[in-house]
Amino acid sequence: MKILAIESSCDETAVAIVEDGTKMHSNIIATQIAEHRLYGGVVPEIASRRHCENIVGVTDEALRAAKMTLDDIDAIAVTYAPGLIGALLVGVNFAKGLSLSTGKPLIPVHHIRSHIAANYLEYKELKPPFLCLVVSGGHTHIIEVKSHTEFKVIGRTRDDAAGEAFDKAARAMGYPYPGGIEIDKAAVLGNPLAYKLPRPRVEGSEYDMSFSGLKTAVLNLLHNSEQKGIEVNKVDLSASFQLAVCDILSDKLMLAAKNFGYTNIVVAGGVCANSGIRKRLSDECAKRGYKLYLPPLKYCGDNAAMVGSQAYFEYLSGNIASLDLNAISTLPIG
Ligand code: KG4
Ligand code: ZN
Repeated sequence: MKILAIESSCDETAVAIVEDGTKMHSNIIATQIAEHRLYGGVVPEIASRRHCENIVGVTDEALRAAKMTLDDIDAIAVTYAPGLIGALLVGVNFAKGLSLSTGKPLIPVHHIRSHIAANYLEYKELKPPFLCLVVSGGHTHIIEVKSHTEFKVIGRTRDDAAGEAFDKAARAMGYPYPGGIEIDKAAVLGNPLAYKLPRPRVEGSEYDMSFSGLKTAVLNLLHNSEQKGIEVNKVDLSASFQLAVCDILSDKLMLAAKNFGYTNIVVAGGVCANSGIRKRLSDECAKRGYKLYLPPLKYCGDNAAMVGSQAYFEYLSGNIASLDLNAISTLPIG
């Protein structure tokens, strides 16, 4: 079954064609990062406008790259939640138009489910159940993936997502948006023990996390140093910050794996492009004999191939939308 999938939840306009959940025929992304960088973050109005301008061309390009026409496609899939509402609406309405005009079924896809599904494109043998850490710009969750369409969140951030903390700390250090990758590049060269940063404790759940205290500690350190005229070594601070994030994510994920008895561990979301996180989780899983699945870098950030993958499993479970499908800005994964 060949699915044309559309993703427009944030600042990438993306269209892909994926067969049977695992075979990617094309995966086209028009990124808006350069424009949002001028403002230090995503400007929702600009994102919606650029999606409108790009979506037809990106769809044409995805069909061309796959050497297909709409006649070859069996269904249309679209990210409908969660994300920026104006951005989601562009993809949802375009998908509805394609579904109406071609008579092909419309499959609604949850953005976080699709980040997890990115792994099925790379690891054809991977099947639930497994334990998954989702780390993106808007979400940080530890999830039991019970089947392709059944999820139980067992831990989550109580405040900022990991990616948000990366981006806010980076911005305070003067790096351009999106700062996660800038911290990653700097951290490779820095001393991770140079600055003492907190690993906040969260009351009430063993698996919940908190990143806002860590981000605030970086802001305070920069602020206090500036007032005292002390120069901050940004490279060392980046390395120290990244180590703190790695400690928090790895400790919680390994604890959950042990207590829930999972040996297959999957990671998903834009932040799992981080080289420090990839290395740390690889080491921790190797020590315990766990099998770790990390998506290749091209499937970590937002893309439509992952949407096309998850859509196949949604279709098999009977999840087909009617033409009154709406975009939803906040929606739990379950
Ligand atoms: O999954 P994603 O593309 O979009 C959302 O669904 O949010 O994740 C974007 C996030 C941003 O916060 C970005 O800074 C972060 O992923 N990111 C990274 C790296 N590459 C992207 N964070 C740390 N290290 C990286 N190498
Ligand atoms: Zn995402």
